[in-house]
Amino acid sequence: MRSHEHVSAAEFAEAIASIRADGGGSVRWFVHQPTAEEVAAATQHGLQREASLLHMRCALPLGAQHQVAADFVTRPFRPGHDNEAWLALNARAFAAHPEQGDWTLEVLAERLAEPWFDANGFFIYEVAGAMAGFCWTKVHDHTHAHDSGHGEPEGEIFVIGVDPAHHGKGLGRALTITGFAHLAAAGLRHGMLYVAGNNTAAIKLYESLGMSTADGDDVFVGVVSQYA
Ligand SMILES: CC(C)(COP(=O)(O)OP(=O)(O)OC[C@H]1O[C@@H](n2cnc3c(N)ncnc32)[C@H](O)[C@@H]1OP(=O)(O)O)[C@@H](O)C(=O)NCCC(=O)NCCS
Repeated sequence: MRSHEHVSAAEFAEAIASIRADGGGSVRWFVHQPTAEEVAAATQHGLQREASLLHMRCALPLGAQHQVAADFVTRPFRPGHDNEAWLALNARAFAAHPEQGDWTLEVLAERLAEPWFDANGFFIYEVAGAMAGFCWTKVHDHTHAHDSGHGEPEGEIFVIGVDPAHHGKGLGRALTITGFAHLAAAGLRHGMLYVAGNNTAAIKLYESLGMSTADGDDVFVGVVSQYA
């Protein structure tokens, strides 16, 4: 869950009660600059503070120096056909980030069915016929000025990952550039993504492409049981 506005202890307790009523489960609560009351409420319900989640932004297109090599060729994700291989790659890439790495076929199917899903914005890079990396973009054509800060559509790198067997070879950089180039070609002037505050490799990559941190959310995690 994500709070766009601060919540009272009573509102938080109500949200937890509704999770319990739905059978409980693991909870991640993203909150921007939590108040003391919110920290206390999270702690009281057994949630612990994790690394922050940073919101990084950039202008699009990226600087002209950020180009991919001519022989770096991707293909679109093929819904249905690619689901299992992609989930396996996602799990390998995000082994240290379970909130992304533990996606199931059901979660993937839900995302693929979202109205914003566009296979042409979901890039797959293969090595010797096997998926080695991906960059999944998402266009926010919202009018939620509140979200974007400027009220204009934004292009997001929704999920990006490289097989650990291929880390450090330039694939992450090429995939990020590919994703943002696609978004820029679609007319978007603002790029953004969310990244865990302790994900040094990714943050360094994004900063090297000219992204900067706009703000961050604190993240509280825990398990809410069905029974109070
Ligand atoms: C982040 C990730 C995509 C980078 O992919 P990669 O192919 O290994 O990265 P590249 O080889 O293209 O490196 C690009 C830049 O990233 C940074 N970088 C990559 N690995 C790094 C590391 N271990 N430590 C510090 N910086 C690192 C560097 O700035 C590097 O540029 P340089 O080679 O000029 O120094 C990859 O580590 C990954 O899949 N991680 C797990 C999934 C993930 O965290 N995704 C991002 C979520 S927002």
